[in-house]
Amino acid sequence: MKSPSGMKSPVAEALANLKKWGVDGPFDYGLVLGTGLGPLADLVEQPVIVPYAQLPGFPGGQVSGHSAQVVAGRIGAVRVFVMQGRAHYYEDGNAAIMRAPMEAMAALGIQKLILTNAAGSLREDVPPGSLALIADHINLSGVNPLIGMADDRRFVPMVDAYDPELRGALQAAAARTGMILTEGVYHWFPGPSFETPAEIRASKMLGATLVGMSTVPEVILARLMGLRVAALSMVTNYGAGLFGGAPSHSETKSVAAEAGETMKALLAAFFR
Ligand code: HPA
Repeated sequence: MKSPSGMKSPVAEALANLKKWGVDGPFDYGLVLGTGLGPLADLVEQPVIVPYAQLPGFPGGQVSGHSAQVVAGRIGAVRVFVMQGRAHYYEDGNAAIMRAPMEAMAALGIQKLILTNAAGSLREDVPPGSLALIADHINLSGVNPLIGMADDRRFVPMVDAYDPELRGALQAAAARTGMILTEGVYHWFPGPSFETPAEIRASKMLGATLVGMSTVPEVILARLMGLRVAALSMVTNYGAGLFGGAPSHSETKSVAAEAGETMKALLAAFFR
């Protein structure tokens, strides 16, 4: 992975640094932890922790409610590469901000990726504190992490982008723990301002049941790299204007942190 100038690419450097810290593939799963969900990394046994600052191409800037480190290890018999904290499009307008970490995960042999996020719910019967599995998404923003890519691989198919088999396995894990896991359609908004009530009403009319500011660019990048993807939302609030919903970042963080235990239990059941 050398550029024409002979310099190592950021991803190659990140991989070399990971190796220096004792983190090497193959891993079975990648797991990206969203806002307030960082404590899910406690599931990892014999963790090796590497700050993103040591990993060229990994996100630098921090959003409150996010850590910025890799936690690599095992959950039961499964080798996992956990990203505790992610970057968002809204940080600097780069939709491909998660490209290097995605490439690094693919290079580490990861074929299955589980993304998590905090999201708003548009369904009254999926209240704050619920978990939801993303079955599909809507992105009408005009933003895409593959804009500017010059080869035909950019025409990434998006049917079953959220892998039916992984979704089935997560549903089975939910059933084993007696949990209800509704499936939803996630409407990506670039943020960072929250949606207006009118946007939420429009979103609902379009068939969305969840809204959020993350995940979608990562799914597109992961599909480009051939990774199979599942995505779980922790519902932290109702969408703006719905059922009293008036989302704020502090609410997102606090509800995700409180309700994160449910997601932890689900992932523990899934991996074990
Ligand atoms: N909108 C967008 N992103 C979010 C929300 C929301 O209501 N809740 C948590 N993340």
